[in-house]
Amino acid sequence: MDNKNKFVLATANAGKISEMRSILSDFGLELVTRDELGIDIEIEETGTTFLENATIKARKIAELSGMAAIADDSGLMVEALGGKPGVYTSSFGGDNLSARERYLFLLKKMENMEQRGAKFVCTIVCAFPDGDLISATGECGGSIATEEAGSDGFGYDPIFIPTGYSKTMAELTQEEKNKISHRSMALNNFKAKLQRG
Ligand code: IMP
Repeated sequence: MDNKNKFVLATANAGKISEMRSILSDFGLELVTRDELGIDIEIEETGTTFLENATIKARKIAELSGMAAIADDSGLMVEALGGKPGVYTSSFGGDNLSARERYLFLLKKMENMEQRGAKFVCTIVCAFPDGDLISATGECGGSIATEEAGSDGFGYDPIFIPTGYSKTMAELTQEEKNKISHRSMALNNFKAKLQRG
């Protein structure tokens, strides 16, 4: 396989890597992670949109690796909070919290709220070494549970109930989650764009 099919995943998040590998597995791309390439840097997400942040991460890793880099920027948008935490989902509630402490912070904040609609959003950007970019977005609608449930998945999965389900994303198998998730919608759009060239 030549370098045209070799892509680096520009994320250090193990949950994202596992999902991205699984969703892209049927597509014949050779995938390496930034960790496997020894790229150990903190990239500041200074953008105010998912697209800006994914572009910052993809461009930086493409520059450092000399390979096409696929970055994911994603987050949770809660209707009753005016779309927050949005691009700030990974730091919601403050610095140095565990993933569980963050979603418990959100549950507490929404304790007496009846309006529980929310969606996960994911934007994928692939940056090529020649400067070209491909971007694609996906969404998954649902609601915020009143209590945590399930132990699969990552991040806010234990408190997010996808539309049409009566269990949380953390109670779904990875295969089930991949059929409906924002990340798989975005990556499938990306695959279609990549195929069209
Ligand atoms: P970022 O893309 O690095 O800014 O981080 C997005 C944050 O959103 C992650 O750290 C997770 O907390 C959350 N998130 C994104 N996608 C998912 C998902 O599929 N399940 C649960 N939480 C997610």
